[in-house]
Amino acid sequence: MASTGIYLLAVCIVILNTAITGGAHYRSPERHVALFVFGDSLYDPGNNNYINTTTAYQANFWPYGETFFGFPTGRFSNGRLIPDFISEYAKLPLIEPYLKPGVHNYANGVNFASGGAGALVESHHGFVVDLKTQFSYYKKVEKQLRHNLGDREAKELISQSVYLFSVGSNDYPSHSTSNSGFFDKYSTKEYVGMVLGNLTQILKGIYNIGGRKFGFVNLPPFGCFPGIKILQPGNTGACSEEVNSLLKLHNRELSKTLRAIQSQLKGFKEAETACCGSGRYRGVSSCGGKSGVKEFELCDNVSDYFFFDSVHPTEKAYEQLAKLMWSGDSGITEPYNLKELFEF
Ligand SMILES: *[C@@H]1O[C@H](CO)[C@@H](O)[C@H](O)[C@H]1NC(C)=O
Ligand SMILES: *[C@@H]1O[C@H](CO)[C@@H](O)[C@H](O)[C@H]1NC(C)=O
Ligand SMILES: *[C@@H]1O[C@H](CO)[C@@H](O)[C@H](O)[C@H]1NC(C)=O
Repeated sequence: MASTGIYLLAVCIVILNTAITGGAHYRSPERHVALFVFGDSLYDPGNNNYINTTTAYQANFWPYGETFFGFPTGRFSNGRLIPDFISEYAKLPLIEPYLKPGVHNYANGVNFASGGAGALVESHHGFVVDLKTQFSYYKKVEKQLRHNLGDREAKELISQSVYLFSVGSNDYPSHSTSNSGFFDKYSTKEYVGMVLGNLTQILKGIYNIGGRKFGFVNLPPFGCFPGIKILQPGNTGACSEEVNSLLKLHNRELSKTLRAIQSQLKGFKEAETACCGSGRYRGVSSCGGKSGVKEFELCDNVSDYFFFDSVHPTEKAYEQLAKLMWSGDSGITEPYNLKELFEF
């Protein structure tokens, strides 16, 4: 059976807060769980070795890799990256870069991350594999898996797999000046909304293919990283508060967005098609047969559905949303939740 809930993990690199938000779901220990990785240089195991870019986006030379591998692999560090450790903890082999020639077996997952990539196509455009392209590669992998394993087994693998993301730092001009002109055209809030909108599109794309377990990292406070501190006027060693406040806004909005998506998708076997109506997705609003179209279908088990009719959620969906409004923490309802308003 394909998994029914959606699992989202928000990790903050700095605090290492690994709050799992997601419904309970059984998991047998023998189950094979693959790892698919998307994102930027924090996770790139060497994809940029195989694209036409410049050395600014590559780490395939000494002393990168010297500690663990003893040779440069393309990873932007002296050794392993977070996905390498995660694959070890999950008893998987090292997850290979998708673009490495000869990598065709995706049963343990594969890594699409590309140093310099952002959620927006504009970020380091022409030098990196942007997130949309990474997703298009994932779709090819899915096809290949169905070809190799058959539809049923591929579906099972896809729904059991963990999808790990590190995206966003390259979208903010703090870190990269390449898209600062693009950045300046929008308000901070609009811009963050666009970054998260693009990230969400990819998440939903993977969800629609069958992915259910997602891990995202918050952006670290780049404003305090050596490369940003040296750009600060006065050479005082202070962090860039301008940069950090942008990243904090991103992180706040990211956790809000993930919670919102989760409350939309969690626990509903069917979050796309309505329970009552007709046509594709039962998107024709004929529920009850009173509005011109007489024919309509009614689902058997309404508690599996997010939408009751073509545009309105089911009671169960409303209940989940109401719960969030009533007692959600500050990530969802700011600065108060409704319970607090009733108690004032
Ligand atoms: C790689 O990029 C450079 C500079 O953008 C370009 O001149 C060259 O033709 C490209 N090479 C290939 C093989 O695409
Ligand atoms: C995705 O980013 C593009 C800019 O690259 C923007 O025009 C678009 O509105 C964004 N999409 C969403 C859903 O936010
Ligand atoms: C309806 O779906 C819910 C949730 O998936 C499940 O707990 C329940 O047993 C189902 N009822 C029937 C009659 O299938």
